[in-house]
Amino acid sequence: MQIFETRDDLQKTLATCRQSGQHIGLVPTMGNLHEGHLALVDAARKQCQYVLSTIFVNPLQFGPGEDLDNYPKTLESDYELLASRHCDGVFVPAVSEMYPNGINNQTLVSVPTLSRHHCGLSRPGHFEGVCTIVSKLFNLTMPDMAFFGEKDYQQLQIIKKMTTDLCIPVKVVGVPTQRTESGLAMSSRNNYLEDRQVSIAANLQRSLKMTVEKLKQGETNFSALELDAGEFLTTAGLKVDYFNISHAVTLEPAGARDSNLVILAAVFLGKTRLIDNIRVQL
Ligand code: PAF
Repeated sequence: MQIFETRDDLQKTLATCRQSGQHIGLVPTMGNLHEGHLALVDAARKQCQYVLSTIFVNPLQFGPGEDLDNYPKTLESDYELLASRHCDGVFVPAVSEMYPNGINNQTLVSVPTLSRHHCGLSRPGHFEGVCTIVSKLFNLTMPDMAFFGEKDYQQLQIIKKMTTDLCIPVKVVGVPTQRTESGLAMSSRNNYLEDRQVSIAANLQRSLKMTVEKLKQGETNFSALELDAGEFLTTAGLKVDYFNISHAVTLEPAGARDSNLVILAAVFLGKTRLIDNIRVQL
C-alpha cells in the first residue's frame, strides 16, 4: 500500500491511475479504523480499481471543548488494517498540508438547510468543517466515487447535497452501519467507553427500534414518541442530546403525512457523545 504525506505525491500517482483508465474510489476517514471504515474500503474495492483512503483528523470540524486533542490516533494499526483489505493508497496529510493558510483563513463550504437541525444545532460549525475538508479532498483527488458510512446519516445527506449543488463530478455512496453484537453502531468514539458503559450504550439502538415499532403500529404523535424515547434513554443512564423523528430527505421535523422517515439520535455517556439513526418507511 502506498503512503502519501504530500498533495504533490498523491496527485502524481492519481494522475497516472487516471491515465491508465483506473476508476478511483475515495474513503475519507479520521483514522482509528474499525470494521465500519473497512466496510467502506470493501465497498470501494468492489467498484473501483484504485482505492484511496485518507486519514486526517480535521481540526475545522471540531468545536471548542470537543475531543480534537484526545481523538484516538492509531496510525500503524490503521495502515495494517487498510492493507489487509487491499486498499491501494492512503493519504495522511499534516494540518499545514490541508490548510496552508491556516484554518482561520480558509474558504468555507456550507449546506445551511440540511445543517440546521440535529448535530448541526448541537455542534455549530461542524458541518461547515466537514463540507470544507470533503470538498478539498474531492478537488485534490478527483475520485470517481466516494464512500461514507450511513451511521453519520446527516453528514451523508449533506455531502450528497453539497456534491450535487456544486456540480462536483463524484458519485457519493452510502454504506450501511456496522454494529457490534449488542447493536451498538461502530464508532471510533466507542473506544472512550469503559466496559460497563458499552452495554448501556446499546440502549441507543434499542430506543430507535422501539420507536420504529410504535410508528409501525400506527402511533402518529411524534412528539410523544420522542419524549418516550428520551425517558427510556435517561432511565438507561444516557443523557439525551436529541432524539428526532424527521423527514428522511429534508431532515426537517416529520409531519403526520410524511412516510419516508429517519429517526436521528445523539446521546452522551459520560463525556462520550454517540450518534445513531434508523430509517422508517410507513
Ligand atoms: O466521518 C468522518 O470521519 C469525517 O467527518 C470525514 C468525512 C472523514 C471528514 O473529516
